[in-house]
Amino acid sequence: MPKDFTEMENSNRSANPSIHEVSDPARRLWLRGTAGAAVAAVFGPSLAGLAGCAATGPSGLAASGPRLGFQSVPPSRADAIVVPPGYVAAVLAPWGEPIGVPGRMPPWRSDASHSADDQAVQMGMHHDGLHFFPIEGSSTRGLLVMNHEYTDEGLLHGPGKADSPEGVRKSQAAHGVSVIEVALRNGQWDMVRPSPLARRFTAYSPFRVEGPAAGHALMRTAFDPEGRTVLGTLNNCASGRTPWGTYLSGEENFAFYFSGGDNTTKDQARWGLPRKAFYAWPNHDARFDATRHPNEFHRFGWVVEIDPMDPTSTPVKRTALGRAAHEGAWVAVTKDGRAVVYSGEDARFEYIYKFVSRDRIAPAGNGLTAAQANRELLDHGTLYVARFDADGTGRWLPLVHGQGPLTAANGFADQGEVVIRTRQASDLLGATKMDRPEWIAIDHHSRWVYCTLTNNTQRGQPDKPGPDAANPRANNAMGQIIRWQEDGDFDGATMRWNHLLLAGDPGNTRPDARGNVQGDFFGCPDGLAFDSRGVLWIQTDAHATQMNKGEFERIGNNQMLACDVATGEVRRFLTGPVNCEITGVALTPDQSTMFINVQHPGETPSDISRADAPQLYSSWPDKAHGRPRSATVVIRRQDGGAIGT
Ligand code: FEO
Ligand code: CA
Ligand code: CA
Repeated sequence: MPKDFTEMENSNRSANPSIHEVSDPARRLWLRGTAGAAVAAVFGPSLAGLAGCAATGPSGLAASGPRLGFQSVPPSRADAIVVPPGYVAAVLAPWGEPIGVPGRMPPWRSDASHSADDQAVQMGMHHDGLHFFPIEGSSTRGLLVMNHEYTDEGLLHGPGKADSPEGVRKSQAAHGVSVIEVALRNGQWDMVRPSPLARRFTAYSPFRVEGPAAGHALMRTAFDPEGRTVLGTLNNCASGRTPWGTYLSGEENFAFYFSGGDNTTKDQARWGLPRKAFYAWPNHDARFDATRHPNEFHRFGWVVEIDPMDPTSTPVKRTALGRAAHEGAWVAVTKDGRAVVYSGEDARFEYIYKFVSRDRIAPAGNGLTAAQANRELLDHGTLYVARFDADGTGRWLPLVHGQGPLTAANGFADQGEVVIRTRQASDLLGATKMDRPEWIAIDHHSRWVYCTLTNNTQRGQPDKPGPDAANPRANNAMGQIIRWQEDGDFDGATMRWNHLLLAGDPGNTRPDARGNVQGDFFGCPDGLAFDSRGVLWIQTDAHATQMNKGEFERIGNNQMLACDVATGEVRRFLTGPVNCEITGVALTPDQSTMFINVQHPGETPSDISRADAPQLYSSWPDKAHGRPRSATVVIRRQDGGAIGT
């Protein structure tokens, strides 16, 4: 999400220590040639293969990793997708396309006059994280599951229609998650319509609540006196896929949807609850008026789990993973088979978390699919928050009621309250305030975990935390990628960390905007994922207010790059249309098809387009008429070979 809402992203006023002032940021940078021991080149079957692998040596870094086999593309300002020679990119599933619910396939209308009911069975707006779920292991047929993070109300509605019951319902229907069936036929990917598996989850679909916050007094509302069923998911940003075949989605900037009025509490302020919502929702759906229904605010900010292969399943909000402005959630597996879920929250000076399941992942059997066999796995375990110390070590601090300061005397009545008020609990523990943690990618071969810290221009401002070892630059416009390796297994209480790179353009005059990228430079890393060869794919999200000007003058439109973490080389693979963000990446098991999402082409500096001039900045992908549309894009090699080789 590109939004630059200062109120939200600067809500951490806690006094927990900034202990890193004495550090030397340069010591934290990984320098080429210090990589160390070799890693066995044993790569998994698909993107971010989920099987655990043996540790690979003191550094865990591959000495001879996969090489990047494509020709770099230059920075671009074109209103188009550009891929390397020998590759083709095609639009697959833009906003407004019917998803293929049998008997309900209303066509896209380029004047956006489709109704709320139509939108509820069409692709949502502003695609984000996605995953490919092969059907019977196929690389030519499967489900694509993806998030629709937010709406551009100027594009979604005709002039004057947003602030109405129908307008709010349509906006809510354009949020959430889509499940579509896709297939490669006659050399071309297309949606399979109708499909019995096609499904939409919106901001009013029922979600079950599980874990420590289920039924908690702070979760009960007039609409749900039991506190166990929430209508809707929203601001779904990044995604994860579990080894048991489910989809995880993070509810990111949920606060913007609520109106808090003039007298927000200290707790509400800690979560950035605005006086007035950024959408018209509270005017027509009382749930989002926090002055009347304050507990509804507690029912968002969770990681949700969806079983896409079972169209009758009810999705679940997994509260044991903590409430936060979750970017997404990503799963590693300990050697004894327990799940470790990493997540962060994309807000200035917020935190990185991990959850370690109590139980082992269960196999399918006894009439249950793997998803069904593990339907309580993420409800029991221990949540931790990260502290990155100046000496290159780090510690996971347990967010457990009764341990340390997390007691009733300090305002935490029980574990339910610890997970509902995860930020306040993390403040008390002294977690490290990060530069907007976005995606996390796990290298299952080396067992290093990588996280994009997209930017934080408030770092070092007079009344804000200064640079520290993990977040080493003031006015950090460019972002960095941090990584760590746990001591012992993924459930380790301590870790060692460094930076893969600091983003930036070496031609900039300001030293803190130059970075240290080897190869094609870029800014604002966001999407991040390993493919099965161990290539790290990096996607960028600079805001329309920055792009192609000032320190971003030479960087071009948002883009996707590949990094060979063995050598540090970064190579630009794709550039996107004007003012879009590139996000979400998934590959078929044979690596011959890559799916990505193009989000908010034609974004305006205010994030909201003019309803009467939707093509002001971009007309991608339809060009001749209509309005810009977020869309899934399919990338293939003309010779059918593996992507990136
Ligand atoms: Fe939704 Fe943090 O990007
Ligand atoms: Ca972003
Ligand atoms: Ca993002």
